[in-house]
Amino acid sequence: MNITFRQLQIFRSAATHLSFTDAAAELFLTQPAVSIQIKQLESAVGIPLYEKLGKKIHLTEAGEIMFRFSCDIHRQFIETEKDLENLKGVDGGLLQISVATTVNYYVAQVLSKFYQNHKGVRISLDVTNRARLIDKLENNETDLVLMGPVPNDLDLIVEPFMENPLVIIAPPNHPLVDEEQIPLRKLKDDTLLMREVGSGTRMEMERFFLEKKNFKLISTIEMNSNEAIKQSVEAGLGLGIVSMHTIKLEKEVGRLKVLDVINFPIIQDWNIVYRKGKRLSLAAETFREFILNYRGDINT
Ligand code: PGA
Repeated sequence: MNITFRQLQIFRSAATHLSFTDAAAELFLTQPAVSIQIKQLESAVGIPLYEKLGKKIHLTEAGEIMFRFSCDIHRQFIETEKDLENLKGVDGGLLQISVATTVNYYVAQVLSKFYQNHKGVRISLDVTNRARLIDKLENNETDLVLMGPVPNDLDLIVEPFMENPLVIIAPPNHPLVDEEQIPLRKLKDDTLLMREVGSGTRMEMERFFLEKKNFKLISTIEMNSNEAIKQSVEAGLGLGIVSMHTIKLEKEVGRLKVLDVINFPIIQDWNIVYRKGKRLSLAAETFREFILNYRGDINT
């Protein structure tokens, strides 16, 4: 069928009003113009679409079918127009963010506040470790990355948004929980639970202990999540080093204690990171500004 969108639009109007005159008024056309377009549509379809009785028109069976078709097309047109329009605004956009496992504890709070103001935005949140985040940056697989220490060998925009203190955690019955300014050597008999290779927290731990030449790190236990480390420390398996932001709840209810060890906490920044030259979507750009200005308190 060689029909045009304009013909369908005019036919839908005429069929809705059952009047060429009303269709002409609605579409700011002359009545003959409406009549010509509908005649052309009819000849393209090859079957009568209406009967004219006085000033009123009546749809034939084929006319009813074409009316439903023109309404479907109209609906799709409106939907598509809306989708395209939304792409231009924050609320119709997709926000793809990838965050370090530590940052996840904080970003949930920020996202919830952001979402209250942007209910239409679609959010895709990926939580993973530092090594995987670097892969994602390299392969342009995400809009924004929120992470601690950044790699030096990629061309990145890096904007710090919050401090991330790394602390040593112990079970509440550990003999040193009430001691102040504990020297590292007092921990030499404790086992330190390590995060997996690729974790930024582990990288910072190793860097720290490498500098402390007089302290030999004993670590035979490795775990790939903050939750596993926290639960194992609580169960008495050893000590752990985690971000202060990950232990809010456990500290509140006294299930974990932070040891007051000299040189701790190790303070790093959390950063918003993206590739230099990347054109951020409006949703990503709005979220970036939101998190940089967010003053919510994580209360750890
Ligand atoms: P990660 O997070 O230990 O899960 O890699 C570290 C970070 O804060 O970047």
